[in-house]
Amino acid sequence: MTKLGVGVLGLQEGRTLLKAISHPIPPSVGAVTEITYRAPHVAAVAGCDLNAEQITRASADCPDVFYTADYDEMLQRTDVDIVAIYTPDQYHCDHILRAFAAGKHVICTKPLVNTLTDAQRLYQAAQRTGCQLMVGQSTRFFESFQRQRKDYDSGRFGQIEFVDAHYTHRMDWYYDKSAWAASATDWVFLGLSHPIDLVCWYLGDIREVYATGVHSQLAQQYNVRSPDVVSINFMASNGQTGRAFGHYGLHELPSARNAIELMLYGSQGTSLAQYHDMRYRYTTPDGTEVQEDMLYQRRGYYFNNEVHGMHYGEFANYAEHFANALLHHSAHSPNLTDGLKIFAVMEAARRSMQTHQPVAVAPILAEIGLA
Ligand SMILES: NC(=O)c1ccc[n+]([C@@H]2O[C@H](COP(=O)([O-])OP(=O)(O)OC[C@H]3O[C@@H](n4cnc5c(N)ncnc54)[C@H](O)[C@@H]3O)[C@@H](O)[C@H]2O)c1
Repeated sequence: MTKLGVGVLGLQEGRTLLKAISHPIPPSVGAVTEITYRAPHVAAVAGCDLNAEQITRASADCPDVFYTADYDEMLQRTDVDIVAIYTPDQYHCDHILRAFAAGKHVICTKPLVNTLTDAQRLYQAAQRTGCQLMVGQSTRFFESFQRQRKDYDSGRFGQIEFVDAHYTHRMDWYYDKSAWAASATDWVFLGLSHPIDLVCWYLGDIREVYATGVHSQLAQQYNVRSPDVVSINFMASNGQTGRAFGHYGLHELPSARNAIELMLYGSQGTSLAQYHDMRYRYTTPDGTEVQEDMLYQRRGYYFNNEVHGMHYGEFANYAEHFANALLHHSAHSPNLTDGLKIFAVMEAARRSMQTHQPVAVAPILAEIGLA
């Protein structure tokens, strides 16, 4: 079987991808014992991080991979077909441009970029390169959200009348681990990239957003640059509406709620996908509620059998989706254009929070060069 070689840049979150594609899926309850892999069309071949401790940790987990602290050295390797980027948000654009210059395809974690200048640079590079890019929007690729999408595509919920998404997570541990999160990005990119992507996935092109944002007590304590309690209303080009919410200083969530949730309100039914309990619920036309709870069946695949572990299944799913598209010359999503459009929506929300006014998305797309 043809496999594409993946080189991972940034081995904190990126280590999850390395493990997800190198290690066999751990058996779950009732599962067969044969050895299977999550992403059969990719192979982990290289890892890169400036921090020697990250390399030590990654090589303990995945010893057969080549490691270096020098990105250029990884880019020069002929066995690397795809570079997967998991460096801090503010470096994504530079790291993508260097990968394109070396002739590599790219997976870039969310958010694709977090400034207008970087969106413009990326758009211009995209005109020149023959390389492809996939945005690693992990939530789309989680089991409950995949099932919900399949049902939506089959028409189960009828016409969508409202889309409501949130991602909430108390982030003191993240500021302690990654200080850049407080000063070098904005929660509208770092955190709300999840619910904003989900809303755009269903509503398509967005015409206008209106956003409000405030600083939580936790954000004030950590001197966080951007508001971390953010609510955004969306008006899509087709007239449909939606909402995204993010709170990164909350106390704790009651266990009935999940960190990421997507509610679809359709003319024939409603549905709720949740991360990370891996539950999916929907109503049928006669009003019966159906609940699918995949946690025990799929936790080996998605969580590596850890208790609510991190993103193994989603990262492998999007790597496999991208590799298949590259190998068969078919479409993949979210691609670079999708990613820039979602950037424009996030940037509109950021500007709306500053001006306290609704902000149209089209002028931002024009500033990027996309209109
Ligand atoms: N669900 C998801 O998809 C998800 C989850 C968490 C984080 N992320 C994203 O992943 C990215 C990284 O987040 P994190 O939590 O791992 O951050 P982190 O600060 O913990 O780790 C970043 C790593 O990148 C390394 N690095 C920085 N610059 C480098 C360079 N020039 N060359 C090589 N290595 C370099 C650092 O040494 C560090 O190990 C962020 O953009 C974040 O938004 C995505």
